[in-house]
Amino acid sequence: MKVLKTINGIKQLRLKLPEPVGFVPTMGYLHEGHLVLVRRAKAENSSVVVSIFVNPTQFGPHEDFDKYPRNPERDLAMLEKEGVDLVFMPSVAEMYPPQFNSWVDVGKITERLEGAARPGHFRGVATVVAKLFNIVQPDRAYFGQKDAQQLAVIKKMVADLNMNLEVVAVPTVREPDGLAMSSRNIYLNPEERKAAVVLYQALSLAQKLWSQGEKDAQAIRQKMTGLIQKQPLANIEYISIADAETLDELDKVKPPALVSLAVKIGKTRLIDNVVLEKVCLAPSIT
Ligand code: PAJ
Repeated sequence: MKVLKTINGIKQLRLKLPEPVGFVPTMGYLHEGHLVLVRRAKAENSSVVVSIFVNPTQFGPHEDFDKYPRNPERDLAMLEKEGVDLVFMPSVAEMYPPQFNSWVDVGKITERLEGAARPGHFRGVATVVAKLFNIVQPDRAYFGQKDAQQLAVIKKMVADLNMNLEVVAVPTVREPDGLAMSSRNIYLNPEERKAAVVLYQALSLAQKLWSQGEKDAQAIRQKMTGLIQKQPLANIEYISIADAETLDELDKVKPPALVSLAVKIGKTRLIDNVVLEKVCLAPSIT
């Protein structure tokens, strides 16, 4: 496994990699969720490139860029074990030199949900991912369903700008109690960690109501709200039931619908989602 810090360095080694090349962009502090993406890339491609870069342009001025967890040595040991070929670990100055001045704006779908709560977030994500795609030139890039809106934004950017790669979505990896794995879970104290399961419980409730035939999105939102409000450490930022592609909010659930939520547990902001697919109801007995 080779670790490169410069754009020129990674570009040169990329040219020598057997194709197809799979790429997994990350911000590091790796966990099993990231590794599942890496394994999928490894299974489907001849070579795998991973990037580790905590991207400052996707953090708001009062967000956790400075205290975002970092552990490059541990990350590299994990990636080596997975048989990754190249790791790109640029500095902020390498990615954003002083004269840097071009941005990728994916429009309407970046303005709601996470985009509404975190203005400028998806401009930073789309810009850094476009740069990484240009640098690494992958055949396939792997993204987690955990960040469903990010996935939708990247898919739209790739389609709109005719980028020459396939975006592969990977299902969310969860802890045994259902909490979605996230680098930010480290911020939770033991009591908050227990309380955090409420996000998964609310999403499971939505899935259950939908499979029982509930189509009224507002009724589902209200029941999810009621469940989360019973947890004193939880503060709801949003609960959304939206069209999975356009992210337009729905009155009546029409599959595939994205149920997503952002909830603060203490001071830590967590997000999670499930997709409501077409249900196959058991045939009714006549
Ligand atoms: P990061 O949060 O490090 O996540 C890197 C990738 O891992 C993303 O595609 C994310 O959706 C996926 N991932 C995280 N937790 C997961 C889980 N529990 N199950 C499945 N996949 C999971 O997302 C980013 O970094 C950045 O925004 C990035 C795309 C690298 C751009 O800076």
